[in-house]
Amino acid sequence: MAEPSKTEQRKAEHVNIILQENVSAEYNYWNDVRLVHTALPEIDLDDIDVSVKFFGKRLGAPLIISSMTGGFGMGKEINANLAKGAAEVGVAMGVGSQRAALEKPDLAPTYAVVKDYDVPLVFANLGAPQLVPQAGKRAYGVADAKKAVDMIDADALIIHLNFLQEVVQPEGDRRAKGCLAAIKALASRFPVMAKETGAGISRDVAQKLKAAGAKAIDVGGLGGTSFSAVEHYRARKEAATLKERLGATFWNWGSRRPPRFCWPMSDCHSSPRAAYGAASMSPEESPSAQRWRAWRSRCSKPRRSPRTRWRWNSAPSSRNSRPPCS
Ligand SMILES: Cc1cc2nc3c(=O)[nH]c(=O)nc-3n(C[C@H](O)[C@H](O)[C@H](O)COP(=O)(O)O)c2cc1C
Repeated sequence: MAEPSKTEQRKAEHVNIILQENVSAEYNYWNDVRLVHTALPEIDLDDIDVSVKFFGKRLGAPLIISSMTGGFGMGKEINANLAKGAAEVGVAMGVGSQRAALEKPDLAPTYAVVKDYDVPLVFANLGAPQLVPQAGKRAYGVADAKKAVDMIDADALIIHLNFLQEVVQPEGDRRAKGCLAAIKALASRFPVMAKETGAGISRDVAQKLKAAGAKAIDVGGLGGTSFSAVEHYRARKEAATLKERLGATFWNWGSRRPPRFCWPMSDCHSSPRAAYGAASMSPEESPSAQRWRAWRSRCSKPRRSPRTRWRWNSAPSSRNSRPPCS
């Protein structure tokens, strides 16, 4: 059997570390979200429909199983299980970065296994750092993206932005210049969603991505998996002391996830802070977009006052003083 490639090894290490170590950000900002109870719903439970249209596909619920794995043996089993679940409940799914299979085509089945299940919306996945030439490596372009999409019969392409992880990673790719132009080139050929992998996407970056043609953004902010933590453990194993310390330093770095979750590209120009749920990401869904706007206008007023702004930006201990927004 052929030797595992470096990428293949890294994919296995990521899963093993996540299974064995605590890689969570220190604070889960979802705990700050409180929905106000509606004692008078004025809607019949059976009439509630949480299905949404996203990237032209109907989903049973506004949920995406975010890109995670593939590219090593156990990745096939994990992707099969995720795809089975996604098909059963009718939600979207992304596979992990397909770089491993582009480098070593034998690994394609670890991703392509998702084709065995009836997942309503499937995302291919490539990393933004790999779209520009890195030391000793060529840049991926349209032909590579097409291979990734065809490999799994994807409906759309996710491009992940993980520069923090790359910087902490012992063997990480360090060049970021030219990524936006590369994303623009791919977005002109494929429906593209941009995502972060745990450190969040700020408003100005969202606007740049929108201008480059991204159809949606998964903000992927701080509050769950910390890839600085994951790479910290890998660096420790490799006795890469500086990187190990870097991982610890940036463990809790990033824009917190809620309220920066997801928002429709049509609203990127106004207040990207105030959107909840993948349903709001779809500009096609006017009722949810309306609810979203109503929510935003209710929440934007208190945040304008300096006192409330301080509350929203303050340490977790003051969370109970926040005004409820729902
Ligand atoms: C084991 C593992 C591998 C991942 N690999 C990828 C990847 O290849 N591509 C990608 O876009 N995101 C990848 N992610 C990031 C997730 O999709 C997600 O953005 C990130 O974990 C933050 O979400 P969470 O806090 O809910 O875990 C990976 C996550 C995990 C846990």
